Amino acid sequence: MLVSAKEMLNKARDGKYAVGQFNINNLEWTKAILLTAQENNSPVILGVSEGAAKYMCGFKTIVGMVNGMMEELKITVPVALHLDHGSYEGALKAMEAGFSSIMFDGSHYAIDENIAKTTEMVKLTSEKGLSLEAEVGSIGGEEDGVVGAGEIADANECKAIADLGVTMLAAGIGNIHGKYPSNWKGLSFEALEKINNATGEMPLVLHGGTGIPEDMIKKAISLGVAKINVNTECQLVFQEATRKYIEAGKDIEGKGFDPRKLLAPGFEAIKAIVKEKMELFGSVNKA
Ligand code: 13P
Repeated sequence: MLVSAKEMLNKARDGKYAVGQFNINNLEWTKAILLTAQENNSPVILGVSEGAAKYMCGFKTIVGMVNGMMEELKITVPVALHLDHGSYEGALKAMEAGFSSIMFDGSHYAIDENIAKTTEMVKLTSEKGLSLEAEVGSIGGEEDGVVGAGEIADANECKAIADLGVTMLAAGIGNIHGKYPSNWKGLSFEALEKINNATGEMPLVLHGGTGIPEDMIKKAISLGVAKINVNTECQLVFQEATRKYIEAGKDIEGKGFDPRKLLAPGFEAIKAIVKEKMELFGSVNKA
């Protein structure tokens, strides 16, 4: 059964480790992540962006697939199904479909509007017993080929949003989605420390987990980060494994590729990277 992310994140924050959010795009990714979590006795969060949800035939299809898989694969570790960077409308739809955790990303609104909309979301999610992630200070990334610098969130604004009763808070500390540019200045631990001090016990979320050096990951965890999102790295290993398989030319006697065999190396590559991240984040045997 899917669970809210609240308990696993509070435990992670207290125990000074982080739970990984791995974004899913299809059946193979979902199966790879669930099996790896079970094998490593780790809690896990499956992240779904609105774009990925559209690709996978909508929120209801995803809820059905994940629930079915958990039963068939006998997954007993805590699993949260989480909407990633949800819009207001998207959040309502994901809740309705049976997601157990919601991110409402109001970071592009002025802070007053972010507060007003997040307040509504706190009410709606708590009525249903779901966990809620809010965001302050947008996280940079590639847009139209231009890689923006990661924004730094204001600690007072973080406190204002944290005090609304959200479960976890994503705050920009120089992190960006996708690959980091070679001139990236690194995470701002000064900003993270201020945010951590201002928000008390709130589990903090680090987006843009791909490509952050290990020492920075560990330091971020020591300063209150209890959830780390990884997406691009899974895409990269999946792509590389599939490319190698095609280049090796292992199709069925010249008739084309068997889809199950074609996707198998990518599936194994995702299992390996997820295990590596769970070890780094310290969530192994914390289920
Ligand atoms: P990356 O794609 O950089 O791993 O970031 C993932 C993320 O933060 C999803 O919200």
